[in-house]
Amino acid sequence: LLGDGWSEAVADPGRRSLAAGGKRLRPLLVFCAAPADHPAEDLIAGAAAVELLHVATLVHDDLIDGARLRRGEPTVAHRFGPERAVETGDFLFSLAVRELRRTGSADAVRALAQASLDRSRGEGVAGEQSDDLSLREDAYTTRCRLKSGALFAAACEIGACLSAASDGEAARLGAFGSAIGVAFQLFDDILDLTGSPEQTGKARGGDLRDGTITLPVIFALAEDPGLAEDVRAVRGGADADATCERIARSTGIARTRERALGIVADARAALDAGPVHGADRAALHQIAEAVIDRHA
Ligand code: IPE
Ligand code: IPE
Ligand code: MG
Ligand code: MG
Ligand code: MG
Repeated sequence: LLGDGWSEAVADPGRRSLAAGGKRLRPLLVFCAAPADHPAEDLIAGAAAVELLHVATLVHDDLIDGARLRRGEPTVAHRFGPERAVETGDFLFSLAVRELRRTGSADAVRALAQASLDRSRGEGVAGEQSDDLSLREDAYTTRCRLKSGALFAAACEIGACLSAASDGEAARLGAFGSAIGVAFQLFDDILDLTGSPEQTGKARGGDLRDGTITLPVIFALAEDPGLAEDVRAVRGGADADATCERIARSTGIARTRERALGIVADARAALDAGPVHGADRAALHQIAEAVIDRHA
């Protein structure tokens, strides 16, 4: 996929970004949302497309967020500069579209396009919500649905539509994916405050530094209004560790975790409420468990 013939200016950082690993949750969902005996070729193309789009957005996200560490390696923006990060993200995005085109499924292309549009809208919403210490939970959840739920939903829908599931079955699987993706973002936002770089492959406190107000912070601010001063100070360049600790001591982490557990439980119940065209239900439930286990 990223063999010879491409400009090394984008192929080299592209290869590094993919080879650095990652949990590969979204491609896994493509496979699990299709019957086990479905021919692999289409699913592989669909899964590759979803992961390529994901990595493309990570490369751009790290540029926007000013992040230096991703998957335990320097980010493309940090290592090669902003121009190369823009170019590399665009390159990976284009490869994603080309891979998906190989499936010949207009529905699959439509699903990925929708996810990409949602993510773009989510990034816009995130910009509007930046530094807003009065942010409400529902506005935060909308952002999570757009920027993270959408691609999880598309992964499930692509597995479903490549294996000719009915519209209702694809929608059921897509709704499951969206909810799991939202819960996943809630845990990611907890881990941004509590997780070590060894555990997450990313720097701790990145959201505080870049002005992203997350649910643990919303809950912590409600309980401890004096925290606002610390949050602003980190934004102004102060060290983030002490503020991460202060938030970790609040009930914000436990309350966010409760929310995420509720979302996952609802998603699992809704998945079992109707037919899913031979999708691997047990594996989908296992993925839902894994999302929770990430922050046990
Ligand atoms: C990171 O996603 C972006 C979010 C939606 C939080 P992952 O945590 O799945 O990243 P990788 O693919 O495992 O590196
Ligand atoms: C996820 O949000 C954004 C994308 C969907 C790319 P984050 O900004 O929290 O993702 P990380 O923490 O950098 O992986
Ligand atoms: Mg980020
Ligand atoms: Mg971001
Ligand atoms: Mg994050």
